[in-house]
Amino acid sequence: MSYGYLQIEQSGSLRGEVELIGAKNAVLVIMASLLLTNGKSRLTNVPCSSDILHMIKLLEELGAKVTFIKKEHCLEVDTTTVNNLRVSAHIMKKMRASVLVMGPLLARFGRADIALPGGCVIGKRPIDYHLRNFSKMGVTIETSGDSLHVEVDELKSTRLVLAYPSVGATENTMMAAVLACGITKIINASLEPEVLDLITVLKKMGAHIEIAPPATIIIQGVDDLYPIEHEIIIDRLEAGSLLLAAAVTGGEIHLPKAPAYAMDVFLLMLEQMGHKIEVEKNERGIRLVATNYPQAVSFKTGPYPSFPTDLQAPMMVLQCLASGTSVIDETVFENRLLHVRELQKMGAKIKLEGNKAIVTGVDELYGAQVIASDIRASCALVIAGLVAKGTTIVTGIQHWQRGYEALEKKLAALGAHVEIKFERPPHIDSAYYEDQIIV
Ligand code: EPZ
Repeated sequence: MSYGYLQIEQSGSLRGEVELIGAKNAVLVIMASLLLTNGKSRLTNVPCSSDILHMIKLLEELGAKVTFIKKEHCLEVDTTTVNNLRVSAHIMKKMRASVLVMGPLLARFGRADIALPGGCVIGKRPIDYHLRNFSKMGVTIETSGDSLHVEVDELKSTRLVLAYPSVGATENTMMAAVLACGITKIINASLEPEVLDLITVLKKMGAHIEIAPPATIIIQGVDDLYPIEHEIIIDRLEAGSLLLAAAVTGGEIHLPKAPAYAMDVFLLMLEQMGHKIEVEKNERGIRLVATNYPQAVSFKTGPYPSFPTDLQAPMMVLQCLASGTSVIDETVFENRLLHVRELQKMGAKIKLEGNKAIVTGVDELYGAQVIASDIRASCALVIAGLVAKGTTIVTGIQHWQRGYEALEKKLAALGAHVEIKFERPPHIDSAYYEDQIIV
């Protein structure tokens, strides 16, 4: 078992400029979409995080040839030799986004075998919306134990309504429909920026896709799709994390290519806290100058363009140190408040009421040993450590490494005292007494 933890010391104001990398949640699905083509595609601006490495292993398990030039963030995938349609449980358990190969494999080969993706700490993460749409498209679905076999002679184009604008279900359904003869409509679709980047890629491949208001994706099936070259969109979640780190430490930051066009509600919340936000020309590029008197704001997560659930945890940290009370309503996942307990260990004053967190600002947080429960919780705990008195140890770094490419190095370049240590974590006495924790 490999040991490791993030060690963070209370840091001064973060200042400087940072280059951002491509969005993990766009790369993963776009890598899966390459299975729709027969040839060599090239993706650039690809982050080197462990989820990407897992998706590479998955494509290689299916027979694709993959070259990842990490230093250039360039990924080449040749799908000419794909000859296996089974995703092993080992790979599926490591990364539930593996479920996204079902649509492309059904479209190109007519079948796929995957292990049912487990849930995770943030929720049960079922795939019923995916399977309901596949079944309406004529796919037979057999489960035995935790393995799933899907098969179809000819995918049917049809009208499909999503009960909830699920990102993955939208992506999987769309990738199945692009080679289905006729017109498929996905109503109540997810239109997250990462879904839109997938649509850009599918259209480059030769797919016929339109978006009709309010949230309908219309697909006219084609006979063939072709390899592409594509630069992955910049990661709005990495951008948000860096903005929050600068804001909470009273600093200043410039993110030259940040996709402000895809971050409106999040940026509005920061402005309402009193932070100065400047968006550069054509809504790419953000400058933040932090206020020293942050006001608490309340927000509710939801499908894009609402406040993104993936920035809920790190944004909560800012509310812990703002004046006033913030009500944070997590509506996307049923259990995405596990970071609350860890923040309480650091002196945060948070009460839980169902899926709502009521945060009352305090003057300071205290270093402690805390556990990251998912990718975005790891980001929240690192950001909390930047301002907490003393030393903070964050264990569960596999989550951090899944979601970010060396974000600790980008933070350190801005003045943060943060590093990853690959050894057993030391025990540190928390500067805060457990008995003061209010649940
Ligand atoms: C994607 O997950 C992202 N992951 C998540 O990012 C992100 O938080 C989520 O979208 C919401 O924006 C990737 O893109 C790889 P959903 P996904 O289907 O597709 C329920 C991160 O930290 N649901 O939109 O799994 C589901 O349980 C990760 O980068 C069903 O009930 O999200 C959840 O409550 C975490 N049945 C809600 O819908 C289904 O068939 C939203 O899930 C599918 C989903």
